[in-house]
Amino acid sequence: MTQMSLPFESRYWPLRAYYDVYYRSIEETETFWAEQARQLEWFKTWDKTLEWDPPFARWFVGGQLNAAYICVDKHAQSWRRSKVAIYWEGEPGDTRTLSYSTLYREVKRFASVLQDLGVGKGDRVALYLPMIPELAVFMLACARIGAIHTVIFSGFSARALADRINDTQAKLLVTADGGFRGGKTLPLKEIADEAVAMSPSVEKVIVVKRTGGAVNIRPPRDHWLHDLLAQTSDLSAPEPIDSNHPLYILYTSGTTGKPKGIVHSTGGYLVHNYCAYKWVFDIREESVYWCSADVGWVTGHSSIVYAPLAHGATIVLYEGAPDYPAVDRWWDIIEKYGVTIFYTSPTAIRMFMKYGEEGPRKHDLRSLELLGSVGEPINPEAWLWYYKNIGGERCPIVDTWWQTETGGIMISPTPGIGCIPLKPGSAAMPLPGVDVAVVDEKGGEVPSEERGQLVIRKPWPGMLQGIWGNPQRYREAYWSRFPGMYYTGDYAIKDKDGYFWILGRADEVLKVAGHRLGTAELEDAAVSYPLLAEAAVVGRADPIKGESIVIFVIPKEGVSPSSDLKKGLIEHMRQTVGPIATPDEVYFVAKLPKTRSGKVMRRVLKAVAENASVGDLTTLEDEASVEEVMRSYRELGPQRV
Ligand code: WTA
Repeated sequence: MTQMSLPFESRYWPLRAYYDVYYRSIEETETFWAEQARQLEWFKTWDKTLEWDPPFARWFVGGQLNAAYICVDKHAQSWRRSKVAIYWEGEPGDTRTLSYSTLYREVKRFASVLQDLGVGKGDRVALYLPMIPELAVFMLACARIGAIHTVIFSGFSARALADRINDTQAKLLVTADGGFRGGKTLPLKEIADEAVAMSPSVEKVIVVKRTGGAVNIRPPRDHWLHDLLAQTSDLSAPEPIDSNHPLYILYTSGTTGKPKGIVHSTGGYLVHNYCAYKWVFDIREESVYWCSADVGWVTGHSSIVYAPLAHGATIVLYEGAPDYPAVDRWWDIIEKYGVTIFYTSPTAIRMFMKYGEEGPRKHDLRSLELLGSVGEPINPEAWLWYYKNIGGERCPIVDTWWQTETGGIMISPTPGIGCIPLKPGSAAMPLPGVDVAVVDEKGGEVPSEERGQLVIRKPWPGMLQGIWGNPQRYREAYWSRFPGMYYTGDYAIKDKDGYFWILGRADEVLKVAGHRLGTAELEDAAVSYPLLAEAAVVGRADPIKGESIVIFVIPKEGVSPSSDLKKGLIEHMRQTVGPIATPDEVYFVAKLPKTRSGKVMRRVLKAVAENASVGDLTTLEDEASVEEVMRSYRELGPQRV
């Protein structure tokens, strides 16, 4: 290995431990990842570390393992059998504690229920559940038999659920009678019934009893989980699964209307997450870890279920709303379970900032050792508030940048390797084995301190295998913008010390309260409302949610703008996508600003929505003329209803 000189002065001495690992990992990437992979239990060792047929990567080819075995069986067969795997707290205050041996028994029984219903390797299983332990147990049960799970966030509508089921052709849907959120119950079974009516692939529905509310069980299609469990044996042994067999499909928004089914592998995904978790969270046997995300998002898959459990960690799982019944609910949970590592989103932090310092002050948060942030850029003000009021100025904050597609954390401070000076608002450095760069429109690296597009130059183990059923879309979405490099869709700056600052999306994707939504997806939902002719969506900077949805709509001929029309549209969008798609503001307009080729000039709309000027016109990103932009801006400005 060639010795590289360290690009920093003695004040950056603490970075040395990191750079020692990092440089080696980039020079000998495959050897590096192969060494890491040996930390997991493989039923059969791989023949080849990486098969790179751009843009398709296959990691640990020929290797066999089982994710449920790694996350559960292994611990249940060790001294960890009596260690707590999951502290679960329901919104109404009911609790459950699952040891690793209990989790093991549950996963085996659930897996055998799946087998009883005819689910086998490669079959898709849709999980539409609240944040209850059964959700994690079903994921692991699928992994145990090689079925591919697809979790659908319980805030999604029947239409969104049906679209995802239809795309995967899932034959089994698992749901619950309901779930608790903000003091209300979500009628999940009712929504699931509506979705199944639109999803012919579904043969069976399993219903978990959670709220005890009345639901319609229709035999022979529907079964209560408890009835199935009463009849099953628990003989299911973990199947040896090929490293490149899909572990799951998870839908996320892109720049077209249809969400993309991101496919993750088993072996590479687990190796990446196992390592990232150790490096970023410095996980130790006695840690109590809580990630407040929903299991329905990638953070929940990797950072609640697979990575922590692969380490035999103790996790906290909370079902409900952060501020129910009072704004100190989260701080109460941290105190109650002695949480040592807490991982949340900037939106949540900003919401708590608004509620004030009283909440955290009422609780003893001294168990905390490390804090994390994910999902959107964290502004320095929120970072400092979090550092001071939650971390008591004691706990480092790891700002972790990653995506559904990357499968695991890619850029973050890595206290598990060595502590580095933190800069509030920066996600710091790439993880070992991760080769990221900031490039200009032509793909050339930009000088430090200059804004550009964030790209990834080498395949990494957790990377998506593709888009379910659509290899062409996979190529186009991620690999066509900069040939040979993965396009993240984010703007970033690398500063002179080598720290990365993520500046937000460069494409037509919004991050609303950390949830990823495509403008095209929202526009499609809006124009499916029968009274509208056209719609365009932009994100407006929001002090709490990061971005909020602003929609410009043209009513159909003869329909006049009214507050009823606005209400109807909002309700329609909630029904079509889910409550996360609720627009914050609706503008009725007579026309939308478009370029000659018919592309909506989003910049004009954004300026109108933000009450700002159109900005620097010398760097027009679309082909509209300055004159056109100004005219549209003037025309649109006063039309606000
Ligand atoms: C954004 C979430 C700034 C980014 C794990 C990315 C972030 C998108 C950060 C992926 C961060 C995520 N700082 N921005 N630490 N983490 N993002 O797929 O725009 O829901 O492309 O995955 O979230 O969102 P996704």
